[in-house]
Amino acid sequence: MSALAADVQQERLAAAVPELERLAARPLLEEIAALKRQRNAVVLAHNYQAPLIYHGVADFTGDSLALAQQAARSEAGVIVMAGVAFMAETAKLLNPQRTVLLPALEAGCSLAASITAADVRALRRRHPGTPVVSYVNTSAGVKAESDICCTSANALRIVESLGAPRVIFLPDRYLGHHVQQQTGIELVLWDGACEVHQRFSGAQLRGLRSGHPGLHIIAHPECPPDVLAEADFVGSTQGMVDHLARARPAQVALITECSMSDNVAAEFPDIRFTRPCNLCPHMRRITLENIRDALRDIRHEIVLPQAVMAPARQALERMLAVGRG
Ligand code: 13P
Ligand code: SF4
Repeated sequence: MSALAADVQQERLAAAVPELERLAARPLLEEIAALKRQRNAVVLAHNYQAPLIYHGVADFTGDSLALAQQAARSEAGVIVMAGVAFMAETAKLLNPQRTVLLPALEAGCSLAASITAADVRALRRRHPGTPVVSYVNTSAGVKAESDICCTSANALRIVESLGAPRVIFLPDRYLGHHVQQQTGIELVLWDGACEVHQRFSGAQLRGLRSGHPGLHIIAHPECPPDVLAEADFVGSTQGMVDHLARARPAQVALITECSMSDNVAAEFPDIRFTRPCNLCPHMRRITLENIRDALRDIRHEIVLPQAVMAPARQALERMLAVGRG
């Protein structure tokens, strides 16, 4: 979660990206830097972005919560979200005066696609009086039907902040299951899953451990329960980085989207990373070319229906008031 000094950023770019690739990308990187100055723009990049974007053009990197917090306080004229649609919508909801661009508008998320606003209304009818917590990996329309949002960094804290015996928690059944194991509050879950994290298995991790004695396994809570049971630490993508900084394990497997290991390896040259690789196809839709095009033409702007803006913002602001877990 950082805005780094230019020399540190250059060092990390050199560590993360082979020289030939860096040289080939240099004209685009320079063009983007010039456009950012011209447009008074910032690029916020999720931890899953490719290393050239993460180290080469981002002004700020982090998990969903950190990007939302940064977007809310940004004074830039233009915010470019190097991430997926729900992240760009969140930025727009939290700072509606800014122009928010998503370089590839079709960059979605299997969790956000798993539930609609009408589904939330139906859940409320089935469970009258039960508050609704929605993961930020949802559309603005779903957020507008929710009492409060959460991210993987604060889900337990948000659920417990409500003081209710029963909570509707949507849409990630695995994150919901993980929270359920840590609280006495009864959770009503939805059947959504992340198409990237659901592919990991406990058997795969046991195989990794047997090939790498002493391996420290860090998993994202969107993984299935048998994966989380094998993990030494479970946390959001930023929680993973903070844990590495504290624990400094010698050899690590990050059980999450695989660009994350490439990005953080440049920050922790003393840690060896074992890289089981599942890529998020939605995150991969963001490229240097479409970041340049978005900035040059101010295109792919996030525009949300007026009717959802106020209630969706309220659900996000309630989450920000509770903070990180
Ligand atoms: P984080 O909030 O932990 O960065 O997770 C976002 C995400 O999409 C994970 O798949
Ligand atoms: Fe959505 Fe999964 Fe991709 Fe994250 S990794 S954006 S949860 S599909």
